[in-house]
Amino acid sequence: MKLILYFYIFFLFLLLGPAVSAQENNEPVETRVGKLLAQMTLEEKIGQMTQIDFSVISVENGQDADDPVDQAKLDDALFNYHIGSILNAPTTPNNKAQPIEKWRNLTQVIRDTTFRTRLQIPVIYGIDAIHGANYTRNAVLFPQAINMAATFEPELSFQEGKFTAKAVKASGLDWNFAPVMDIGRQPLWPRLWETYGEDVHLVGAMGEAFIKGHQADDFSAADKAPACLKHFVGYSFPINGKDRTPAWIGERMLREYFLPGFEAGVKAGAATIMVNSAEVDGIPGHANYKYLTGILREEMGFTGFTVSDWEDIIRLYSRDKLAASPSEAVKIAVMAGVDMSMAPFNYSFYDLLLQLVKDGEVPLSRIDEAVSRILRVKFQSGLFDRQQPALAAADNFASREAVELNRRAARESIVLAKNDGQLLPLPRQAKVLVTGPTANSLSVMNGGWTITWQGNKDELYPQDKPSLYRALLEKAGDRVSFVGGKRFEDEINIEQAVSEARNNDYIILALGEKPYTETLGNIETLDLPPPQLQLARALQATGKPIILVTFGGRPRIITEIANNAAAVVLGFLPGMEGGIAMADILYGDVNPSGKLPITYPRDTNGITPYDYKPSEEFESNRYWPLYSFGHGLSYTRFETSNLQLDKTSIANGEDINVSVKVRNTGNLTGKEVVMVYLHDVAASVTRPNRQLKAFRKVELKAGEERTLLFTLTWRDMSFIGVDMRRIVEPGEFRVMVGNETATFSVVKN
Ligand code: GLC
Repeated sequence: MKLILYFYIFFLFLLLGPAVSAQENNEPVETRVGKLLAQMTLEEKIGQMTQIDFSVISVENGQDADDPVDQAKLDDALFNYHIGSILNAPTTPNNKAQPIEKWRNLTQVIRDTTFRTRLQIPVIYGIDAIHGANYTRNAVLFPQAINMAATFEPELSFQEGKFTAKAVKASGLDWNFAPVMDIGRQPLWPRLWETYGEDVHLVGAMGEAFIKGHQADDFSAADKAPACLKHFVGYSFPINGKDRTPAWIGERMLREYFLPGFEAGVKAGAATIMVNSAEVDGIPGHANYKYLTGILREEMGFTGFTVSDWEDIIRLYSRDKLAASPSEAVKIAVMAGVDMSMAPFNYSFYDLLLQLVKDGEVPLSRIDEAVSRILRVKFQSGLFDRQQPALAAADNFASREAVELNRRAARESIVLAKNDGQLLPLPRQAKVLVTGPTANSLSVMNGGWTITWQGNKDELYPQDKPSLYRALLEKAGDRVSFVGGKRFEDEINIEQAVSEARNNDYIILALGEKPYTETLGNIETLDLPPPQLQLARALQATGKPIILVTFGGRPRIITEIANNAAAVVLGFLPGMEGGIAMADILYGDVNPSGKLPITYPRDTNGITPYDYKPSEEFESNRYWPLYSFGHGLSYTRFETSNLQLDKTSIANGEDINVSVKVRNTGNLTGKEVVMVYLHDVAASVTRPNRQLKAFRKVELKAGEERTLLFTLTWRDMSFIGVDMRRIVEPGEFRVMVGNETATFSVVKN
């Protein structure tokens, strides 16, 4: 009798369950969080703080199985460990892009199983979709962040965020570990290309736009998804250039250069933040209470949740020797402010934290705080109200609009750095030799996080997207000859290239890097590999004009080759449309408009950023890069003039308005980026010679002129003072646009 009664009650609950939650979904999120938290057991709470890799619930070789979920393992994860999040494609580290239907099916299995748990708290499935949904097969893969920054067009970043969120949700996934808001000021670092470059203002503008496109104001919408700022904070500046090694960043540098990108991201409403895997000033990111709680929560007011990076809590014990035991590592990280652990291969975090709470080592209040943050984001993401994949794949995945946006972004991200004698664009009828290790590969234009983690499986790349060589062939047919292989590693017969060069008018020499990310991308020098230099020197000896094209994530030293080349075009990582975009530019079907988001060093120690201090341009010191931050040529010419300010002096807190004219003085339509720099002439802390404070990209027809208006705010004039507070000091300021300078003064109140 009793059994029938229990079954009846259970059946009733199942029937009413959704109805009950449905009634609640009109309540404020905070109310829903509080009500749910009150029902949760300690085990269920700690489960929410645990994120596991898909491989923990996968069948053998899940990446090749149609149904990769091992239901028994999934049941164990959900019913015994109550886990709150899963990440990655099936079977790390052989992560590889999966068909969208497979993603939709496996995520639905997880949702259906979660629905059978006591409280039906949805799993939030996180994925790296850093340049489109890179782990969903045939996704539109955009230029990498360094290239998006080179467009100097936040609208493109907004659109990329919008299309990426659609692709993530159409895949049945929930949460994107993007954008990287680390600032890129260490060119050796193997993740420089995942950043928006070296400038604080540009990083903030491009990252904020991505978040707005990805989340909008309500990421519970079917085609929106929560983003994740990473990696908080100071990860991008390892002193030796190698990934996950110590950074030494003083507080003023932290607050001037490394925090503002994250401040912009938090202000844009980013839902989550991933923690820095490395240490800063001897404190590992995952143990840094001052950063994770003092600055992120108390100063910046971040209300979402933080997630650790890969195995980085246990690494406080196993790598950093900061913790004397795995248990102490968990305690340190949770108490510092890490809310969710990317464990990710086992349940040790769950077991250790449960015991720590039972032993009174970690207060329940801290658990409730972390879980509330996680539940808040889950409610805001609409996960509780979504039992089916909310977004149809049709029209939302690999749409024509997304492909067109991708091609536009690729074209606008490529930088024409040199063009002696207006050699480019090439005449269609010219005979051209294409050669070099990056001439005939898609992977060299996409970098890491492309189809696989390292992006280096050329065989998995789509056959319908052309390499540079193939794109040139499509444009100029038999006028184009080629010497080389299919992959970056394929050896190039120098004699054959030299011999072939003699039969051609021009040489397109494609050099650079193979794809990589994280520690596998560490290098000992920015110099190019010797075989590339040998090939270049042999071709230079032919006397044929060389157009140097580069692809890759870092500014490798090309000075000797560039000085002997007639033209230099810097592609970096323009994504799947990169071949077409580069060919469009070389033949003049597109007028280049990319600008460097980083300083391009002349030599390996040429790592002085553009916003250098006075002492870096004093006596024998000078800023002498091969190409400066903001550099980029066009096939037309632009001039700015008539720089004017609406005031000659302002009191603290006032804005100042800047107007300037820009004219296309050439005979081709083109796009120009007008950049407004500011210099605080004298202050109690040494000030950069200039800092970008505003920019705008405009398209002008030949002869067309436009007046642009900008506003500089108090914040633009501020800096981190001697006492580490952001201040504005009275004195002279210089506004610089193009070759004009205008001055104004900040006067005491
Ligand atoms: C990696 C990266 C991080 C990524 C995460 C999940 O180690 O540092 O950027 O989002 O793990 O793949």
